[in-house]
Amino acid sequence: MKALVLSGGAGSRLRPFSHTTPKQLVPVAGKPVLFHALDALTAAGIDDIGLIVSEADGPVSRAVRERPGFDARVTCIAQDAPRGLAHCVLIARDFLGDDDFTMYLGDNIFQGGITDTLDAFRARRPTAQLAVRKVTDPGSYGIAELDAEGRVIALQEKPEHPRSDLAITGAYVFTSEIHEAVRAIGPSARGELEITDAVQWLVSRGRTVTAHHFSRYWADTGTLTDLLACNKVLLQALTPAVGGSVDEHSRLLGPVVVEEGATLRASVVEGPAIIGRHSTLVNCRVGPYSAVGAHCRIEASDVADSVLLDRSTVQGVGKLRGSIIGKSADIRRDSADSGCHKLLVGDNSRVFVPR
Ligand code: G1P
Repeated sequence: MKALVLSGGAGSRLRPFSHTTPKQLVPVAGKPVLFHALDALTAAGIDDIGLIVSEADGPVSRAVRERPGFDARVTCIAQDAPRGLAHCVLIARDFLGDDDFTMYLGDNIFQGGITDTLDAFRARRPTAQLAVRKVTDPGSYGIAELDAEGRVIALQEKPEHPRSDLAITGAYVFTSEIHEAVRAIGPSARGELEITDAVQWLVSRGRTVTAHHFSRYWADTGTLTDLLACNKVLLQALTPAVGGSVDEHSRLLGPVVVEEGATLRASVVEGPAIIGRHSTLVNCRVGPYSAVGAHCRIEASDVADSVLLDRSTVQGVGKLRGSIIGKSADIRRDSADSGCHKLLVGDNSRVFVPR
């Protein structure tokens, strides 16, 4: 089985981070969102992966190519504009050939991976299989309606009046019959070739389309709130490891990863938490649920529930909660101590101050 990972979108909802880092490379629990997808696929035994990207030789393809220790075969396929998920299947035709494949949306996170979903497909080998999950806001997703035997009888894309509460998640499995379907459909009201329409085309022609219920945590990391929630869930599975140096005045509580070259002085880190490569913590408290990137500096501050991207600094700030700090951002107490907030904030940033 092959995989087709869709990783082309611009990520406007992840601004300001997506101004400088493609949304697929924004880290969750210490690893880019896209790498979570690739690792879920290799863990399920798939090592021939097609990657839909917006530029064949852009930052996403480069990050995948240069990722140390990742040796699955990755073929990058450029999509000139976001023309829909079914369009991705259309342009990947040569790569996919007549093989079965899983189509995995690169911004989706499946806790514990998708091996069980792929096993369910292999056991029955229907024409297509969807992975579905009960949600409270079905109008925000593609929706599947099932019969008593669990076969898909109808699909709706972000319906105003949903006929079920089963969202279609971003892990589809297809046989080569999908190629006929993606060629047959036309663009939707939003001008895209929808995979939902292609699967509905198969259902309408009596082909067997099944649904596998994914019951663990699943998220589409489209927004910053999703990203923090995901960070929290994925950190729970952290295996502690200490590769850096922790002085005798520091303490690690619970599952903590201190990466190589990181230094902790007079600091307490409460897991689950990751302190990235070559980061320095002095006289502070970090965690739980914090992921600190590489080359960061945190001093005299108390950070929890937050993600710090590489080379950021937090100094003398007091309590920082539920925050995402961008690359090389610098947050520190004003030495003039004017009693005012003094901000140098980039485009599309959001800052919340206490009352
Ligand atoms: C896409 C699909 C939708 C699916 C969702 C899952 O929506 O069109 O059917 O439920 O992914 O993440 P999009 O996020 O592209 O709007």
